[in-house]
Amino acid sequence: MIKRNCADALELVPPCEGYARLMYRWMRQPSSRRYSAMKKVGLARIKKRIMQEKQDLRRPLKLSSCRWFVRLGEEIVGTVSLHNIKRADRVAEVGAIIGEEGQGRGTGARAVGMLVKKVFAETGLRKLLAYVNEKNLASRRLAESLGFKKEGLLRRQLLVNGKPANEVVYGLLRGEKRRR
Ligand SMILES: CC(C)(COP(=O)(O)OP(=O)(O)OC[C@H]1O[C@@H](n2cnc3c(N)ncnc32)[C@H](O)[C@@H]1OP(=O)(O)O)[C@@H](O)C(=O)NCCC(=O)NCCS
Repeated sequence: MIKRNCADALELVPPCEGYARLMYRWMRQPSSRRYSAMKKVGLARIKKRIMQEKQDLRRPLKLSSCRWFVRLGEEIVGTVSLHNIKRADRVAEVGAIIGEEGQGRGTGARAVGMLVKKVFAETGLRKLLAYVNEKNLASRRLAESLGFKKEGLLRRQLLVNGKPANEVVYGLLRGEKRRR
């Protein structure tokens, strides 16, 4: 059980193979499966994927997705990512998973806030998007708390456990007022 508080130092660190097992576990937790149609991916595939997603943003973005892990104090508690990076439009989507033991303590918002800051400081991306199941209140609140604006609602866009669900699209433009 992680008993950390908001004052603990939070850092985004590059992927390493050992973190694949944590991500495997987080992807299977009920809070992840409740709102998305994430396919069950094996450990080997996750290991391969996260190592491919290792990227130093100070170099030109070459990948379609990049990932960091969230270190809080001494523990790795979650992961944040940039995906669907469209170099021609200079836009990308953000994603996050925080392990259930560490949820609801402000860590997700701090980590995504740090990612947003890093991306706008170190890349030429103009806009970040977040696609969120309408019912995923933690994720929606997280986006809103960082200054993302609701830009649209995709009706019955998702199929979660066979049931259609609406998806909200949030956007944040470079230079727009941010809260963190
Ligand atoms: C979504 C997720 C990343 C949020 O991370 P977290 O560390 O739990 O969130 P935080 O503690 O930073 O809270 C962010 C905001 O959401 C609110 N919140 C947290 N849990 C909530 C819940 N269950 N219901 C409603 N609001 C909630 C917080 O109060 C905070 O809002 P505030 O700034 O107005 O106080 C995390 O819950 C998670 O990994 N869920 C499973 C995977 C997932 O859904 N990923 C996102 C896919 S788009």
